[in-house]
Amino acid sequence: MTDVDLLIRGARVFDGGGGAPSVADVAVRGDAIADVGPDLALRAAETVDAEGLALAPGFIDVHTHDDAVVLDPDGMAPKLTQGVTTVVTGNCGISLAPDPRAGRPAPTPPLDLLGGAGAFRFPRFADYLAALRALPPAVNVAPLVGHTALRARAMDALDRPATDAEIAAMRADLAEALAAGAIGLSTGLAYPPARFATTDEVAALAADVAAKGGLWTTHMRDERTGVVSAVAETIDVARRTGVRTLISHHKCAGAAAFGLSATTLAMIAEARKTLAIDLDVYPYTASSTVLLADFARDSARVTVSWSDPFPDAAGRDLSAIAAEWGVDAETALERLKPGGAIYHQMDEGDLRRILAFPPSLVGSDGLPRDRRPHPRLWGAFPRVLGRYVRDEGLLDLATAVAKMTGLTAAALRLRDRGRIAPGMKADLVLFDPERIADAATYEDPTRPALGVERVVVNGRTALARGALTGDRAGAVIGA
Ligand code: ZN
Ligand code: CU
Repeated sequence: MTDVDLLIRGARVFDGGGGAPSVADVAVRGDAIADVGPDLALRAAETVDAEGLALAPGFIDVHTHDDAVVLDPDGMAPKLTQGVTTVVTGNCGISLAPDPRAGRPAPTPPLDLLGGAGAFRFPRFADYLAALRALPPAVNVAPLVGHTALRARAMDALDRPATDAEIAAMRADLAEALAAGAIGLSTGLAYPPARFATTDEVAALAADVAAKGGLWTTHMRDERTGVVSAVAETIDVARRTGVRTLISHHKCAGAAAFGLSATTLAMIAEARKTLAIDLDVYPYTASSTVLLADFARDSARVTVSWSDPFPDAAGRDLSAIAAEWGVDAETALERLKPGGAIYHQMDEGDLRRILAFPPSLVGSDGLPRDRRPHPRLWGAFPRVLGRYVRDEGLLDLATAVAKMTGLTAAALRLRDRGRIAPGMKADLVLFDPERIADAATYEDPTRPALGVERVVVNGRTALARGALTGDRAGAVIGA
């Protein structure tokens, strides 16, 4: 006879709330945390001696493009090896469902950063969630529906504002997605197929999201010298509609924008006095997305991450390819499409300021489709805990853990995740704070993180002694 299924003994427990850790035992029964306290007198089916290790709620990756890879039974290694137990999919306006092709042979970039035409096989959002639930996934999935996907379905040409009829069509698709289980809507207003959406178009959809109590996440219209006006537009939509708002991967890109985070964070702090506005950040000074000439123009260095016509270009610098071909960088970039790249275009000072800003949340923005991905896919969370907490002392460990767990769950309204306490779902990560580190680099981007010992998803062990178990205990959550 046993009392509980799993007993983790003697770890320093960071409960996700940001307070100081305490040494305690944590007991798991079924998919939930049964008890937390010193020296629990319980018989367990499995006991783990965790002395000297840190135990935290499973990390919530608030910004992912895992929509397609989460359907792959073996696809979540990049996240589980970092201690991530929940992913928010459908960011930046880009979602796998509902099918955005609308008669086009291939998905319009940047929708194709999720995969080729074959990946987009779900007519409705409900079809996508049914496939996920049937699998089930190895991590929990909190799905967003993408505005760009809705736009591509509703409009024949994307280089103009939507008509009233087209907005009505988008609202119908949005209603279907929210009813099926989407936690909200994302926009990607910096990208060509959404750039022509007016603030009113965005607000019309955001108002529907607000009416359902959902979340709006936004890759803002401008993350370069126009970032201050983009934050103002975002706050304007939040104020007009009352929608809970999350600014995605906040950054100041291009040398002319360096330092503007002092202004944007002050604006966000002021807005937070009356509005529900959050933000996320990834711990790198290079961005990554599909091939875009205006992203390349103000980058110090551009490295190709994938290219359909030239697969071997992945991992090479655009300047070297252009020199070899005897063309300018922009011509080379056009020839490499469809494809993606890594853009070195941010300043460490802005990154540190945003990461240290108390409300900021950690997300990866990893791109699992890329042949030579940005290292954030495999390293974002351990990089914060290793480099920025232990090595540089920018944050203390409890604060950093809260930015990956309790604060994130509060922003997403995930009431039974993100904290270690009796009754909460048993999503847990056990790691060595002295060893935790990102191993993925720009040169070698798919090396698993170091120092993560065990990962538990809904009470079941997904990773033990650093190795994946193959168990898949994730669920579709949030709605
Ligand atoms: Zn984005
Ligand atoms: Cu993104």
